[in-house]
Amino acid sequence: MKTILTGVRANSVPTIGNYLGAMLPMVRLANQYSKDSHVNIFVPDLHSIISEVDGDLKANTIRTLKYYLAGGLEINENVHIYRQSRVPAHSELCWILNCVATMGEMSRMTQYKDKSEGRESCNVGIFDYPVLMTADILLYDATYVPLGEDQFQHIELARNLATRFNHRFGEIFTVPAKTADQVKFMGMDGGIRIRDLLNPEKKMSKSTKAENSKIMLDDEPAKAGKKIMSATTDSLGKVKFDMFNQPGVSNLLQIEALANDVPLQDVIATWAGETRYGDLKQKVASSVMRLLEEFQAQMAKVSDEMVYGLLESGEKYANEVANAKLYEVQKAFNLR
Ligand code: TYM
Repeated sequence: MKTILTGVRANSVPTIGNYLGAMLPMVRLANQYSKDSHVNIFVPDLHSIISEVDGDLKANTIRTLKYYLAGGLEINENVHIYRQSRVPAHSELCWILNCVATMGEMSRMTQYKDKSEGRESCNVGIFDYPVLMTADILLYDATYVPLGEDQFQHIELARNLATRFNHRFGEIFTVPAKTADQVKFMGMDGGIRIRDLLNPEKKMSKSTKAENSKIMLDDEPAKAGKKIMSATTDSLGKVKFDMFNQPGVSNLLQIEALANDVPLQDVIATWAGETRYGDLKQKVASSVMRLLEEFQAQMAKVSDEMVYGLLESGEKYANEVANAKLYEVQKAFNLR
């Protein structure tokens, strides 16, 4: 059975960028494939501590897992939910892979460059983040790792480290699919990057200060609708998907497609030839409001106990699989 795996950090309430770009696509794929694939959904809580955590990390972690259930994740024996820090093999494989990765390739990681820019000092965790992420993926022989576009470089790193390791020691790791195949598997035309509503050249991010630039999953739906209505567009006066010249309008089309679970091409075709941005905004605002209303109503029905119940079996499974893989790696290095 193939493995599909993903994680989302629990530093704060996610934006609809996280939700539409990564969480909801994962829920849809999980429901489609979990009959004959393993589906691993975990919270990388060790990745959370590279930066400030808003609130209590333990509670945030449980809440984050509830989002998947509220988003419609169907549970069966192939769906495994766990917390990274409860599976110590992740940290140990990270150390071992640190001895496989090179300073040169790690220094090229754009997330590290972005996150360290302008800081006087930067913790080593920020630099090493993609190696721990590689360990998260390789321990479970994951083929597909649904993620937003900002994380594609890390998938390439995971592929490179797995290939290098296998070359030296034999076929121990499954090499994850190429990013182009990941995108195809997600049923998309390209990687998803939901943009900042006020400054659509940038990705929507929880760390951006301006409230109107981002929609949080717990925003009141009416407030979210207003944010869409005040989104930056352009002066070209045609509704067209062109991320380069019309990032604001393109972002609205992308949100509309994901919020309604319809192919982007269909949304583009529906709006082709339209000139009134106000109409587009009205439509997207109502889609986002409906999405949030439904999501928030579902969220109220999911209890912490449901998540703890799933974690018990999920963490037992994860430790078994991860320890078996780690043992093979330890043997390869003559540690066992
Ligand atoms: P995190 O928490 O920073 O992001 C979680 C997911 O949300 C996606 N994302 C977006 N997608 C579209 N548009 C946006 N504006 C946007 N902002 C965020 C991210 O691409 C990501 O998919 N490093 C991972 C966590 C992780 C992980 C792993 C994931 C750690 N180990 C192993 C998969 C497999 C991350 O970025 O989390």
